[in-house]
Amino acid sequence: MGFPTIRPRRLRRTKELRALVRETLLRPSHLVYPLFFHAGLTEKRPIATMPGIFQLPLSAARAEAKAMRERGILGCILFGLPKEKDPGGTTGLDPDGPVPVAIREMKDACPELVVMADVCVDEYTDHGHCGVLRRGRDGAMDVDNDATIRVLAEMGVLFAKAGADVVAPSDMMDGRVGKIREALDSAGYEDTTILSYAVKYASAFYGPFRDAADCAPKFGDRAGYQMDPGNAREALREARLDEEEGADMLMVKPALSYLDVIRAVREASTLPLGAYNVSGEYAMLHAAAQAGMLDLDRAMLEVLLSIRRAGADFILTYHAHRAAELTSG
Ligand code: PBG
Repeated sequence: MGFPTIRPRRLRRTKELRALVRETLLRPSHLVYPLFFHAGLTEKRPIATMPGIFQLPLSAARAEAKAMRERGILGCILFGLPKEKDPGGTTGLDPDGPVPVAIREMKDACPELVVMADVCVDEYTDHGHCGVLRRGRDGAMDVDNDATIRVLAEMGVLFAKAGADVVAPSDMMDGRVGKIREALDSAGYEDTTILSYAVKYASAFYGPFRDAADCAPKFGDRAGYQMDPGNAREALREARLDEEEGADMLMVKPALSYLDVIRAVREASTLPLGAYNVSGEYAMLHAAAQAGMLDLDRAMLEVLLSIRRAGADFILTYHAHRAAELTSG
C-alpha cells in the first residue's frame, strides 16, 4: 500500500501531533556545562574565540553553581588554569589549585550538582602536551605514557578528595582508566565515577579551547596520542578497553564530525555515553550567526538534537545555558 492511502504528513499536521511522535528529545538534564577556573584572576575574562564564555575567578564558583541549578542543568565539567606551569604539570596536583578549590566551593553551594573534573596535565605543563615528556626513539621529545598515567591517577584522587562526583580523563594515554580506578579504590573513593574520554580524535575543532585553557602544544601536535580522524573501528577498540578497565561512562569527542562514531559506540556498549560538542563547534555557529548567515538558537538546537539522535545520553556543551533556557518547560 502507498500513496494516496499512506500519507506521512498526517502526523505533521499540528504541533501536538508532532510532539506526540517525536523520537528524540533534548532536555536541560541532557546538558553538561564546561567551566574554566583561573587561579590568577579576580574578575572574569572573556575568551575572544568563544562568545559568552569566560575564564572565571574562583570567587565566581558558587554563583555559577547556583545559576546552573536555576536553569535545570544538572552537571558541569571543570578545567583549571594554574598560576604557574612546569614540564611535569605538577601544579595540577596542588590541593589548593583552581580545580580542587572550585569543586569544594561548588559542592558546598550546591551539593546536588554533578561536578565532573577533567583529568589531564595539558593545562599545567609549560609545553602544553597531555603528558610528561621523554626523549623518544628517534631523538625527538615524546609523551611518556606510563609516567603520565601515574600523575593522572594522583590527580584523579585529588579531585575525588575535593568532592568531585566524576573524574574524566581526557589525555588518551593507554591504561589510564584502570590506573585511576585502582588509585581511587585504594584511597577509599570506590564510589567516585569515571567518565572516560574513550574516543578522542586529534581534531582542529579544539582550537578555541586551547586559547581558553592556554594549552596549545608549544611544539608538535597531539597525533601521537589522540586518534586519527579516519578511524572508526579503532573507536570501538578504545571504548571496549576503557570499559574493561572499569570506566563507568564513555565519551566521544568531538561530536558533530563524529556522529557515525557516536552511533557505533552506542550500539557496541551498554554504558552511558556522552559526547563533547567542542569549542570549535561552538565558535563556528557563533561566527556564522554573527555574520547573519543563520539563526543561532535554531542551529544550536538542531546540532544538539543530532548528537542525541546519534546516540549520546548527555552532551558537554558551551551552549548549555541557552539550550536549557530554550528546552525547559
Ligand atoms: C585536554 C582537553 C581538550 C579539550 C578538553 N580536554 C583539548 C585538547 O585535547 O587539545 C577540548 C575541549 C574543547 O575544544 O571544547 N585537557
